[in-house]
Amino acid sequence: MTQVSETNGVLTIGGAEVPALAKEFGTPLFIMDRGQIEENIRAYKSAMDSAYDGHGLVHYASKAFCTKEMCRIAKEEGIGLDVVSGGELYTALSVSFPPEHICFHGNNKSMEEMQYAISAGVGHIVADSEEELDILDSLMEGNTKTRILLRIKPGIEAHTHDFIQTGQEDSKFGVSLKSGDALRVLSKTYQNFEIKGVHCHIGSQIFEDEPFMVAADLMIKLMADVYEKTGRYMEDVNLGGGFGIRYTETDLPRPYHDAMLATISAVKKASEKYGVPYPFLIVEPGRSIVGEAGTTVYTVGTVKDIPGIRKYVSVDGGMADNPRFIMYDAEYNALLPERPEAAREEKVTICGRCCESGDILIRDILMPKVQRGDLLAVLSTGAYNYSMASHYNRLPKPAVIMVKDGEAKLCVRRETYEDLVRFDL
Ligand code: LLP
Repeated sequence: MTQVSETNGVLTIGGAEVPALAKEFGTPLFIMDRGQIEENIRAYKSAMDSAYDGHGLVHYASKAFCTKEMCRIAKEEGIGLDVVSGGELYTALSVSFPPEHICFHGNNKSMEEMQYAISAGVGHIVADSEEELDILDSLMEGNTKTRILLRIKPGIEAHTHDFIQTGQEDSKFGVSLKSGDALRVLSKTYQNFEIKGVHCHIGSQIFEDEPFMVAADLMIKLMADVYEKTGRYMEDVNLGGGFGIRYTETDLPRPYHDAMLATISAVKKASEKYGVPYPFLIVEPGRSIVGEAGTTVYTVGTVKDIPGIRKYVSVDGGMADNPRFIMYDAEYNALLPERPEAAREEKVTICGRCCESGDILIRDILMPKVQRGDLLAVLSTGAYNYSMASHYNRLPKPAVIMVKDGEAKLCVRRETYEDLVRFDL
C-alpha cells in the first residue's frame, strides 16, 4: 500500500521509503507491493474456498505482469496460472510452477506451443476454434493429463474500452454461441480427448457484477444443452478475468472478494436452474491482482511551460514502459514521492521521453509545482505496463522490485545498453 511516512512525510510502499528505493535502484523503477498482491490473491481465493468449497481455482492471468518472481508468488499462494504463449509458459515452468495448475490460452497457438504445453502436462488448454480442436486431437494421443476446454464467444459487451472488449460477436476470439456453432462443436467427439468444458472472457476493467453473472448463466446453459444433446456432462467452466481496479478517484471497484462471491452465486444459481452439477470453476483475474500494487517512479527532466496552452513535465520514461495512454487513452493518478501531500496547484501534462507527440502518461493533471530532479510516481501501474513495455527509441527496460515489510527485492534487473544490442548481428 502507498502511505505517507510519519517520520519524514515521504511516500512509502510496502513499508519502504520511495525516495530511498529510487536512489538505490534508479529510475524509472517499477515498485510492486508484494503484500498487496498477496492480499488481492487471498481475496479471490478465500471466496472460492469458503463459498464454493474449493471446487475451483483462481488462475492469475500472467499476461498482466509475468516475471519469475510473480509466478513464485502465485505458486506460494496456491493458485493457478493463465498463460497465453510459450514464453509465459516457460517463465512459469522455470520456477517449477505445477503444470497441472496452468491453463494455456491463445487464439493462434503455434503447433510448437501446443506440443510444449501438452508435453509439460498443463492442466488445461483452451482451444479457440474448431480447427484448433482438430490439431489438438492429432497431438493428444496417449495424453490423459491435459483437459481441453473450448473458448466461447458469449456475445456480451461489457462496459469498457472498445479495444479491450473480447466477448462480442465481432471478435477474433472463440466460437460463437449465438450462431449455434458452440453447441455443434461441443457435441462433436474426438479420438484423443473429450471436451471437458467451456471458457469465456467478457472484457477487462469491468466494475459491474451483472456481465459476469450473465456470462455464467449463458455458459452453464450451454453445458446443459450439451448434456441434453449428447448425454455428456461438461465438468469445467472458466469465466476468464476482467474485474476492474482503481486508476483514478472515479473508478470504484467492488472488493474482489465480493465480486467473486457474486460470480460464485451466479454459477450455483444457473447450475440449479438448468439441472446440472456444480462445475469446477476457474476465474482468471490479472489486472486486479497486480494493477494497484504497482507504482512507477520516474525522475522529472525538462519542464516546458507554453503560455496559455499547456505545461509539459517530461519524465525519464513514458510510452516505452507504459503504452496505455497512447493505446487506450488510459487515465492515471500521480504524486510526488518526496512531497506526497503537497498542495496540487497547477495543471500539467506528464509526458515521456520518446520521439512521439502522443507519448503522454497523464494529460492535464493537477500537481504540486515540480522541477527538474524531482521524483514523480504514477500509481496503479502494476498491470499491463511492464508486460507491454517496449524498447522504442532503444530505451532499456526499467528494473522491477518487490517490496514487503520494508524490504526490497530486485526481481527484474534494469536493462543495459549491452542488453539492447544482444541479439543484433
Ligand atoms: N483471461 C483471458 C482469456 C484474457 O484474455 C484476459 C485479458 C484475462 C483473463 C485477464 O483479464 P483482466 O483480469 O486482467 O482484466 N492490455 C489491456 C488489457 C487486455 C486484456 C486482455 N485479456 C490493458 O492494458 O488494459
